[in-house]
Amino acid sequence: EIKGFAFDMDGVIADTARFHGQAWHQLADKVGTTWTPELADALKGVSRMDSLELILKAGGHENDYSQDEKVALATEKNDNYVKLVETLTPADILPGMKAFLDELKAAGYHLVLASASKNAPKVLKYLQLTDYFEGIVDPAKLSKGKPDPEIYVEAAKTMNLPVNEVAGVEDAQAGIQAINGAGELSIGIGSGLKDADVKFNETSEVSLDAIKAQL
Ligand code: BG6
Ligand code: MG
Repeated sequence: EIKGFAFDMDGVIADTARFHGQAWHQLADKVGTTWTPELADALKGVSRMDSLELILKAGGHENDYSQDEKVALATEKNDNYVKLVETLTPADILPGMKAFLDELKAAGYHLVLASASKNAPKVLKYLQLTDYFEGIVDPAKLSKGKPDPEIYVEAAKTMNLPVNEVAGVEDAQAGIQAINGAGELSIGIGSGLKDADVKFNETSEVSLDAIKAQL
């Protein structure tokens, strides 16, 4: 029986996947990597430095920059991203997600955030959602990012639940792999996701009844 939900944030709760995409697109142009929809999808859920490496590799530039230069590039992307995040308001919560969080809270489920983003506390603050979560897994303390299961294993620990009592909610393939690898119930939102136990095309379709209908 599911007793807790671990949420991805970017693209699930917050309409911020487009901001990450915008800022990475700018960075790709700068280093001379062609921006494609496939590259944009491959970056979803992936940590900041891993994303930079994927962009450099896609253009054959992985050996063109020193470690210090790579950190500077990632910092530049983040500065651009944070400027976009500062425009967020509760109106940028994705459709249906506030209602779903309210439903879960009212039904007594545990809720934690399992986002790879170091900007997660800031985003939740702008969306006025901080109080919904009993914990935020700190991605800085993880040894491996998504698709590694570590972040979802940590999420279960944060809720003091065994993994088989936890559901994870994701919009990225790397995230679905992480949830499945942790042995939790995977809920995927978005077309083209493989291997999710429960699937929705849009955030507005997600509810407890709609999940139960697919189990
Ligand atoms: C994930 C996003 O949630 O966080 C990725 O889907 C992003 O696009 C990653 O790269 C890391 O985020 P940040 O804000 O720490 O650079
Ligand atoms: Mg996401």
